Amino acid sequence: MTTQFSLPLSVYRKRREAIQSQLKDNEVALLIGAEEQLRNRDVEQAFRQSSDMLYLTGFAEPDAALVLTSEAAILAVRPKDPEMEVWTGFRYGPEGAVDAFGVDRAVLIDDLDELLIELAPKSWRYAYDDPRGHARVGALQAKLVAKTRRSGEPPASTADLNPLIHDARLVKSSAEQDLMRQAGQLSARAHKRAMKMAKPGVMEYQLQAEIEHEHRMAGSKREAYGAIVAGGNNANVLHYISNDQPIADGDLVLIDAGCEYENYAADITRTWPINGRFSEAQATAYNWVLKAQLAAIEAVRPGQPFERYHEVALAVLVEGLIDMGALSGTVEENIESAAYRPYYMHRTGHWLGMDVHDVGTYHEQGASRLLKPGMVVTVEPGLYFDAAGDAPDHLKGIGIRIEDDVLVTEDEPEVLTADVPKQIQDIEAWMAG
Ligand code: GLY
Ligand code: MN
Ligand code: MN
Repeated sequence: MTTQFSLPLSVYRKRREAIQSQLKDNEVALLIGAEEQLRNRDVEQAFRQSSDMLYLTGFAEPDAALVLTSEAAILAVRPKDPEMEVWTGFRYGPEGAVDAFGVDRAVLIDDLDELLIELAPKSWRYAYDDPRGHARVGALQAKLVAKTRRSGEPPASTADLNPLIHDARLVKSSAEQDLMRQAGQLSARAHKRAMKMAKPGVMEYQLQAEIEHEHRMAGSKREAYGAIVAGGNNANVLHYISNDQPIADGDLVLIDAGCEYENYAADITRTWPINGRFSEAQATAYNWVLKAQLAAIEAVRPGQPFERYHEVALAVLVEGLIDMGALSGTVEENIESAAYRPYYMHRTGHWLGMDVHDVGTYHEQGASRLLKPGMVVTVEPGLYFDAAGDAPDHLKGIGIRIEDDVLVTEDEPEVLTADVPKQIQDIEAWMAG
């Protein structure tokens, strides 16, 4: 079977009903699931259902669509196919999908257009960022116009489905928070394991293997994203994923890795010395990043704009850059002129949930969105001193990021990934022990 429910069926029904209650009469919402992707020839990439489909149904098979009206939830799915099931495994088929997923009705995916025409929509909702929705609705619109020529009442409007689903996904229920705590704890164990297995000369992909081994053994089926394991100057490539170099004695290693647990992501970065001891320059730079991160976490509080914790982190990082001789002038001047950019070129975090860069807008009515209890963000300041850049010599080749996952609560921020050491003495003690 391709689906395991992480949450009771009633949860999925309530989520659908929350969307359905916002649909107008005769409005039809169409959500198309993820498609299989070829890796090469007839070998497919590992399939992962789209998070929106998982959120609303738990249905994990490819070639699926969900149709919602104010009255009904209808799944369109692949047919049962005993011959194919011998090759690729169990399929629910329409009848099985109704029983197992609690929808009102299910049809064959090949009959999706027929279903949509039968529903005779007066308006449409589909994901505006998915070209497949535009194409499908556009093609159907022509048919519906022809069909309703006499009545003169074809669908007259479309609207984006994303905000309805994504605003709901942005605030995590307590059951979701529990899954994210699990994801954070499992991923923390993996980072701790990599720290223990470290030794100069180890290949970056070997540390990646330690991380992924721990994730799988702890009960996570897959990674939340491709791990970054970057020794020395490789840490200055923000999305370094080749992970194919040896890590030299004296270098730091930056590991950005997290697992998915029951479809919820963790996203952790730690940076530590491969030989177990920070050099003086490494420790100085590290402690500025840590100071920025701790200050930023404190700003992850309800009512604060999302933007605020980035500003808090940035001010500390710029102070550090001046202190270490990478910048001159005042903190304000350097923030104003963006002179810090060669050393800190990304934002301090993002929403986290079923997707690592989770859904939900960062602005509302033109202003930074205010944090609410139940939102989860990453807090991930860094400093990057590329070997070929203009940093003072003693900093060149150092790249540091520290990233934790933080739940907004009514009061104190809850760090879901707190189990991985990040104070220098704690890292060194863990690696030595
Ligand atoms: N791992 C991706 C990120 O930190 O945003
Ligand atoms: Mn992140
Ligand atoms: Mn990350």
